[in-house]
Amino acid sequence: MGKYELFMLILLMDIIVSGWRFDGGGGYGMVDGLRMDYYYMMNCPFVEGIVQNTVNRHLQADPTLAAALVRMHFHDCFVEGCDASVLVDSTKGNTAEKDSPANLSLRGYEIIDDVKEQLENQCPGVVSCADILAMAARDAVFFAGGPVYDIPKGRKDGRRSKIEDTINLPSPTLNSSELIRMFGQRGFTAQEMVALSGAHTLGVARCSSFKHRLSNFDSTHDVDPTLDSQFAKSLSTICSGGDKSEHAFDSTKDTFDNDYYNALQRKTGVLFSDQTLYNNPRTRGIVNAYAFNQAMFFLDFQQAMVKMGLLDVKEGYNGEVRANCRIIN
Ligand code: HEM
Repeated sequence: MGKYELFMLILLMDIIVSGWRFDGGGGYGMVDGLRMDYYYMMNCPFVEGIVQNTVNRHLQADPTLAAALVRMHFHDCFVEGCDASVLVDSTKGNTAEKDSPANLSLRGYEIIDDVKEQLENQCPGVVSCADILAMAARDAVFFAGGPVYDIPKGRKDGRRSKIEDTINLPSPTLNSSELIRMFGQRGFTAQEMVALSGAHTLGVARCSSFKHRLSNFDSTHDVDPTLDSQFAKSLSTICSGGDKSEHAFDSTKDTFDNDYYNALQRKTGVLFSDQTLYNNPRTRGIVNAYAFNQAMFFLDFQQAMVKMGLLDVKEGYNGEVRANCRIIN
């Protein structure tokens, strides 16, 4: 077989596996695999603008939703990869991820629906819900004052969303070593794990996530000894309002900054899993570095987010572009 025949055979095989997707501009564009310019190649150049404008509009109305979008992307990527499985609604025969206890406080689905509707009008069947979620989380970070960064696109949406898969999400009762192991299994270093945890510079936790620290903590302590005692008292007061009462992770809950790490240094981390990053000598130095140097945190965070956004990404016929982010096609 000559070189030309071999090339044509490989091309044909790729088309069979990945589908026929030329950029329509007359040139040939291989778009399997993620690319920064994916939607330019798909002749849909306004994707990024539509996502950003829509996200900004929603966040101007409710800035607390920035936290929600960032968390949603994390919960998507850690379960079945970044494939929008978290967006799927339960059906009669299937309880989906979003109905797991770990996901019940997720919010902001309506923002993704709004973006999707506009993109379906512009470029039907082209922009995946997984990409929309990844871009929305990225834009939310920037809206809240965090770093600006570009992400590659071309993810496909998954066809599986099952409640039992959410076992893969980290619990707030894990300690630093357990978090290092859990994130390590997904290819992250301890430093990347600490940087990603810095997403807790945004948003709140409900008492159900930290009340175990406030009474009957362990056999020798009623209250978690790694918690500042004054802070423990104010958390207890808040939790007298019930499991759904909330407390911010740091003093600037709608601003993306490094104050979360300062809170850990002051023993005022809200979750046990957060405070343990400072208590464990393996991660304390990283917490101190980020508390001292916000620019370093921003750089490491954006790199770790791009990496998180590549977790088990589906391409070609391993996935689809959902018509409605809540329903598998
Ligand atoms: C390191 C392991 C992690 C654990 C154990 C953890 C656990 C939690 C818990 C328990 C909450 C509060 C939920 C509630 O009470 O309603 C929360 C909130 C949040 N998490 Fe994490 N998380 C982790 C890592 C991450 C990562 C990697 C990100 C994103 C990159 C993230 C983003 C968020 C955000 C933004 C919120 C606030 C949500 C809101 O205010 O609506 N978390 N997390």
